[in-house]
Amino acid sequence: MTQWWRDAVIYQIYPRSFADGDGDGMGDLVGSTARMGYLADLGVDALWLSPCFASPQVDHGYDISDYRDVDPLFGSLADMDDLITTAHDYGIRVTLDFVPNHTSDQHPWFQAAVAAGRGSPERDRYLFRDGRGVDGDEPPNNWLSVFGGPSWTRVDEPDGSPGQWYYHLFAAQQPDLNWRNPEVVAEFADILRFWLDRGADGFRIDVSDALIKDDTFPDTDSGDPVIPKDESSPVHDIYREFRQVLDSYEGDRMAVIETGAEDDIVALFLRPDEMHIAFNFRFVHAGFDGSDLREAIDSSLAANAAVGAPTTWVTDNHDTPRSVTRLGQDSVLAGAYIPGTMTASGNGATDEDLGTRRARALALVLLALPGATYIYNGQELGLPNVDDLPDSALQDPIWERSGHTLRGRDGCRVPMPWTRGINLGFTGSRAEPWLPIPGEWAELSVAAQQGRDDSMLALYREALALRKASAALGRGELRWVSAQDVADDLLAFDLEGADETVRVLLNLSEDPIDLPDGGMLLSSEPVIDGQLPGIAAAWVARPGPEGIQARLSTLGQLIADIVDRRR
Ligand code: NOJ
Repeated sequence: MTQWWRDAVIYQIYPRSFADGDGDGMGDLVGSTARMGYLADLGVDALWLSPCFASPQVDHGYDISDYRDVDPLFGSLADMDDLITTAHDYGIRVTLDFVPNHTSDQHPWFQAAVAAGRGSPERDRYLFRDGRGVDGDEPPNNWLSVFGGPSWTRVDEPDGSPGQWYYHLFAAQQPDLNWRNPEVVAEFADILRFWLDRGADGFRIDVSDALIKDDTFPDTDSGDPVIPKDESSPVHDIYREFRQVLDSYEGDRMAVIETGAEDDIVALFLRPDEMHIAFNFRFVHAGFDGSDLREAIDSSLAANAAVGAPTTWVTDNHDTPRSVTRLGQDSVLAGAYIPGTMTASGNGATDEDLGTRRARALALVLLALPGATYIYNGQELGLPNVDDLPDSALQDPIWERSGHTLRGRDGCRVPMPWTRGINLGFTGSRAEPWLPIPGEWAELSVAAQQGRDDSMLALYREALALRKASAALGRGELRWVSAQDVADDLLAFDLEGADETVRVLLNLSEDPIDLPDGGMLLSSEPVIDGQLPGIAAAWVARPGPEGIQARLSTLGQLIADIVDRRR
C-alpha cells in the first residue's frame, strides 16, 4: 500500500467554475478533462471534484437527486469515465464528493416519503416528526438551519391535510437522512461501490460528522442542533462500515472527512478502522497571526498523531472567502466559513497587495508542512474574492434564506480566467459565464501568469516540483527552531527527511531578517543582500541543496515527458 493520501497535493475542481467545455457558460467535465495537462504541469497528485451528480442545483450540487448519475449540466457518465481515465493516464488520482447527510427533496426516496404518509418505512429514511402546538403547526423544536431560518419544514399529508415536519440542517430542499436506519447505510455503501467500480480513488465526505442527531430533538438555548460525535455516537459505526467498503477494493482508496469539530473529536473519526484524513480548517481561522499559526500546526499534528493519521492543510475552498482577500483585511477572520456556523462572505476594507504578499508567504508554509495539502482552483493564481457581484447575480441559497442579509459564497466561486480573450477563456464562446468574471482578471489569467517568473502560478509550480523531489517537504519530521516567544514575528521550523533537512522561515514582521546557512530553494519574495524581506517566506536546504536539485532535474524531466506525451 502506498498510502498516497498521507502527503498528497489534492486540487479541488469546482466543476461549474473550472472550465467550460461545451460553451454554455457553465463549467463541466469535458472542460475539466481538457485542462488535465495544466494540472499535471502544476504538479498535483490528485483531484477532488465538487459534486457533479444529478441535482436540481439548489445548493450547487450539494442537493443530489440521483447519486449514480452525472447532472446533464456537467455532462454524462461517459464524460466522468473519460475524466477519470485521462487523469489516471497523467498519474493523477480522482476523488469525488460524497454527500450522505441529506438528499435533494427531488430524490425518489424523499418523494416517496412524502407520498407514503405518517409511520411508513419510506418516512423512516428521513427525520419526520409531528409538530408542536394544538394543531401540530409549530416545528418540533427550535433548531436553526445553517443557511438561516428554521431547520424544519412542514409537508401536506397524502389526503391534503397539513402534516408532519421534516428536519433539514441546510436548505429546505436538502432533507436530512435518518442514519439510524440500516437501509440508509446499505444504500450509501452501495453508492460508494458504484463509484469505486468506475475507478474513483476516494471520496470527500460532506458534513461528515453530522449524520447522527440527538433523536430526542431537545430545544437548545442557541438554536444549534445537538449532534453527538463522541466515542459512543453511532456515527462511528457508519464510518467503520464505509472503511470496510473502501478496504475491499485494490489500489489504496481513501476518504477525507469534512468536519468543523475540535481536534480531539476529529481524531476519533481518523482511528485506523474509520476514515483516512480530515480537512483541517485551523489555517483558515489562524489568518496571518504567528502565534495562532503555530498553535494550529502543533495542535493539528498532535491530535492526529495520537491515532496515527496524517493531517491536512487548507486555506481556501468553495465555502470560504478567498485567502488573498481575507489576508488583506484587518480582521482576517471576517467571513470565514466554519462548517455548522456558516457566515457571510468577506467584509471590511481590503488591501489586496498585502493579501497577495501574505498569501504567497503562507503558501510556502502550507506546501511544506507534513501531510496532505488542498489547493482550491484559482488559489494558485492568487484570485481574490469577488465581493461586489451585483445582487441580481447572487445564487447561493444563503442569500435568499437570510432575507438578503448574508451575501453567501458566490464571491469565491467566480469562474477561472484562462486567457486574456473572450470571457477570459473560461467558456471559449460568447455565452455569459454563470457568474460574471471581473475584466481585470485578464492579468491574473493562466496565460498572463505563465510568462512571468514572479507570478503566483510560478511560485506554486516551483514549490510543488520541489516538494515532489524532496524527502523533507510535505513529509519530514517537524522541529521548531524559533522560540515560542518570537512566534508573532517569525515562524521557523526544520523538516527532517531521510538524509535531507529543509528549514522553513515565515517572516511575519515588516523588517528583513538574516537567512541561515544553506542553499536557498525558494522564497516568496526576492532575497536582497542575503536577507529575507518582511512578510515573506523561504525554504532553505541545509546544509546545501545538491541532493534535492539532482532529484528535481530527474523528476522535472519525468513530468515534462508525461505532459509532452499527452499534448
Ligand atoms: C458543505 C459544503 O462544502 C457546502 O458547499 C454545502 O453547502 C454544505 N456542506 C451542505 O451540503
